Amino acid sequence: MRFLLTGGAGYIGSHTCVCLLNAGHDVVVLDNFVNSCPEAIRRVEQITGRKVALYEGDCCDESIVNHVLDREQIDAAVHFAGLKAVGESVSIPLNYYENNLGATITLCKALAKHHVKRIVFSSSATVYGDSKIVPMREDLPLGECTNPYGWTKWMSERILRDTAYADKDWSVVLLRYFNPVGAHESGLIGEDPTGIPNNLMPFICQTAAGVRPMLNIFGNDYDTPDGTCIRDYIHVMDLASGHLKALEYACEHKGTEIFNLGTGEGCSVRQMVEAFERANHLTLPHQYAPRRPGDIAQSFADPAKAQAVLGWQATHTIEDMCRDAWNWQSHNPHGYRTENPAE
Ligand code: NAD
Ligand code: UD1
Repeated sequence: MRFLLTGGAGYIGSHTCVCLLNAGHDVVVLDNFVNSCPEAIRRVEQITGRKVALYEGDCCDESIVNHVLDREQIDAAVHFAGLKAVGESVSIPLNYYENNLGATITLCKALAKHHVKRIVFSSSATVYGDSKIVPMREDLPLGECTNPYGWTKWMSERILRDTAYADKDWSVVLLRYFNPVGAHESGLIGEDPTGIPNNLMPFICQTAAGVRPMLNIFGNDYDTPDGTCIRDYIHVMDLASGHLKALEYACEHKGTEIFNLGTGEGCSVRQMVEAFERANHLTLPHQYAPRRPGDIAQSFADPAKAQAVLGWQATHTIEDMCRDAWNWQSHNPHGYRTENPAE
């Protein structure tokens, strides 16, 4: 089959490209490179020995999305395109609502026009808000998001559900990711954050690389066994294979389905630091710091539904995630850029 991946040059998109191509599917990518670069797709082609049909353009631009769909016969879309920096979304909320909701609406309209009413959407565990109930199941009531980024996921879910409710030909699969980390085992593709990373794993990697002097562990007084926050980290290649299963499902069913993509295992920040040191035989400078505003004590998935319905289960361990993240970082200290852009 042939799939359109909006935002397919990004972190999760590029790994999903590899997984889909290796499974024998064709991939069309539409990306405006606002947070990625074409080099990621070149490396996807290097890993898989397959070609990707790459279009540079904005998913909010109806004429561009229609142009891609006029030229490419696709069976379903995976909608990764979106802005994802939580802090930035608080500073420039209108850009986040315009981009993330605009892209979702424009894509759906263009897909409907081309009679391709199948979409897999990148949602987030953030829609559960500060749920006191863990593990989180898909039928938990949605929570209050703590930032505009989270609300764009919440609202996009609503938009997609309403679309499938109004037109019974639609198949909508909402994937709620927990905390994606790691990289393809080749070390050729991985997460390439711009500026100072907010998320734990890229910060750990940059600290290990000496780019940052010290990791701050935000809070050691939470109501958890070691006092640090608990999250459900999932290897990006497991996440990628979840998209393959979700696409197969979307091509065979109609209506809306929601799946958590997580391991179901909680890991504390301290455990993550220890696992990283163990997996990579190094010492990570770290210290405890005050809590980060907006953080919740624990978040981890109940992934039983994805296993029962999609036949999907995460297989990588925390050590795998740490090893592969460091393999990518140590071989690409400046991400996809060369150290000296003049080189
Ligand atoms: P990413 O920033 O690496 O990838 C997103 C891609 O979308 C980038 O390549 C970017 O250039 C592109 N893009 C953004 N706006 C666009 C537009 N209007 N038109 C075309 N392309 C556009 O992020 P990621 O980590 O790969 O995340 C992919 C999706 O998953 C995002 O929607 C994100 O919100 C969601 N998500 C990510 C995480 C995470 O921790 N990485 C967690 C939950 C959900
Ligand atoms: C954050 C976002 C979430 C988004 C997700 C993407 C918030 C409140 N939530 O989730 O919306 O979907 O990223 O992956 O921003 N930590 C440290 N030191 C650091 C960085 C992080 O101790 O330098 C801790 C955090 O306090 C947290 C854990 O590590 O307890 C994970 O943090 P992070 O990777 O940012 O993910 P989330 O906060 O779960």
